[in-house]
Amino acid sequence: MEKRHALYAGKAKSVYHTDDPERLILHFRDDTSAFDGEKKESLARKGMVNNKFNAYIMGKLEEAGIPTHFAGLLNDTECVVKKLDMLPVECVVRNLSAGSLCRRLGVEEGLDLDPPTYELFLKDDAQHDPMINESLAETFGWATPAQLAEMKRLTYRVNEVLRQLFLDGDMLLVDYKLEFGVFHGEIVLGDEFSPDGCRLWDARTREKLDKDRFRQGLGGVIEAYEEVGRRIGVSF
Ligand code: C5P
Repeated sequence: MEKRHALYAGKAKSVYHTDDPERLILHFRDDTSAFDGEKKESLARKGMVNNKFNAYIMGKLEEAGIPTHFAGLLNDTECVVKKLDMLPVECVVRNLSAGSLCRRLGVEEGLDLDPPTYELFLKDDAQHDPMINESLAETFGWATPAQLAEMKRLTYRVNEVLRQLFLDGDMLLVDYKLEFGVFHGEIVLGDEFSPDGCRLWDARTREKLDKDRFRQGLGGVIEAYEEVGRRIGVSF
């Protein structure tokens, strides 16, 4: 597969065209950012760690029957994915309270959320990714009702699979964000799943093992990502 010109460069990943119009290359960079890009740093090994972590998780989700865009690892920091028509909607499930939910509702961190909550956000940096709902998404044409229903079903299905996977490694999957796109008419999981886009706590101590280490200046960010990977069987 031949790598061609860049399609898009995000805050932590770059996307390239290939000689196959239905395939893209995702390059996981060492760049990390938080708070709408206000806090930025380059963390050695991050691109490699997240690329391999994501490949492992996407494989587990595919095994569970969840369609993903993942098409194979290319090298330490790059993978091949199906080219989706991305929907500008972020789907967030929470099993425990943390982050923006606590700020928005004034609830304490670490409450069990039963049943787990489901929220939608618009992917729009200029508007700071505002919270939306299915009515707004339909009216503004961000996704159809059928697409929204399938995204919700798949996002909850991911919760069943990954909650158990992390629990087997003595970790709590606190929350996570997924993005979907359309491939030949089917809703398919896109973007990435790594400790950059979810919260994971040690089940016993509740130590944070995810991007909150970067957001909150706790240090040991990549060491924590590697620890999570090691516990669930990722080989780096
Ligand atoms: O910030 P908030 O608490 O709403 O985030 C919920 C989850 O979604 C967290 O795991 C966070 O890392 C993830 N997220 C993300 N990208 C965003 C917004 C949230 O990965 N743009």
